Amino acid sequence: MNEQILNATAKAMVAPGRGILAADESTGTIKKRFDKIGVENTEANRQAYRDMLFTTPGFEQHTSGVILFEETLFQKSLAGVPFPELLASKGVIPGIKVDKGAQPLAGGGLEETITEGLDGLRERLQKYKAAGARFAKWRAVITINEEAPSDYAIHVNAHALARYAALCQEADIVPIVEPEILMDGDNSIEVCEEVTDIVLDAVFAELSAQQVLLEGIVLKPNMVVPGIKCPEQASVQEVAEATLRVLKRRVPIAVPGIAFLSGGQSDELATAHLDSMNKIGGFTWGLTFSYGRALQAAALKAWGGSNVEAGKAAHLHRAKMNGLAALGQWDKSLEKAA
Ligand code: 13P
Repeated sequence: MNEQILNATAKAMVAPGRGILAADESTGTIKKRFDKIGVENTEANRQAYRDMLFTTPGFEQHTSGVILFEETLFQKSLAGVPFPELLASKGVIPGIKVDKGAQPLAGGGLEETITEGLDGLRERLQKYKAAGARFAKWRAVITINEEAPSDYAIHVNAHALARYAALCQEADIVPIVEPEILMDGDNSIEVCEEVTDIVLDAVFAELSAQQVLLEGIVLKPNMVVPGIKCPEQASVQEVAEATLRVLKRRVPIAVPGIAFLSGGQSDELATAHLDSMNKIGGFTWGLTFSYGRALQAAALKAWGGSNVEAGKAAHLHRAKMNGLAALGQWDKSLEKAA
């Protein structure tokens, strides 16, 4: 484990005004996205779509890294350049999703899941590193309902996250540690705050127990928001304050950066929340985005399978807005200029 390499990569991933594009949808997930725009889920279409995103002129000014799905890591651009090489040539760090997805938790009975993919991970990391990946992602999923999350689900998911993180660091690959608390329930913002607090506490306890170098990780948490079905929604300010309250309590200052997932928030709200937190300030970590849907939804729709220029324009706009939010310099009026 090379501590300097890990720390330098983690810092670069959260450099001021830049964030991470999560373009690591599995073949099954991208099918759901393509279905919405009537595009067939073929390898050629997946390649064309990712090519459109990664050849967007200027997106690299706002994008520090891209998380790729395994297929894309070994794919070439339409011009014949391996995607990781294309990204690296623009100063964008290639990363790789290494988990194998969330599966039902044995004996749980509460519709909870455990993320799989540890078997053979040490060998896979060497293969990914040779292909150019310098960071990785593993997503643990925590559900909120009347009985969940259980201590059982929190514990095993935190344990697996730490095992993954330790293996990544052994290979000088920065682990993005992603404990995602889903926002699809009817719970209040207070419940989300409480659960996020408990989960982050468990995750950092496991990272410490398994000797993970905190200077060489990037945390990818959910923001503290009410469930989408909760009748009482929160203001941008409330979300920003609640999220910062938990992060300040639970995330050691040794961690170089925090890059949020968007989790189903609308594009503009995800930007507004990030901007609001950076305007409030008072923390030492880089605080940026690692959005999937909130960065891609507009680009995907504008592209529609063939409109490459419109797709690129929509992608660049969102990347720019989020880059400004990462500096606390976004303003709603800038959206209209699109
Ligand atoms: P969303 O921003 O769409 O939640 O995706 C981010 C991600 O990488 C989830 O694992």
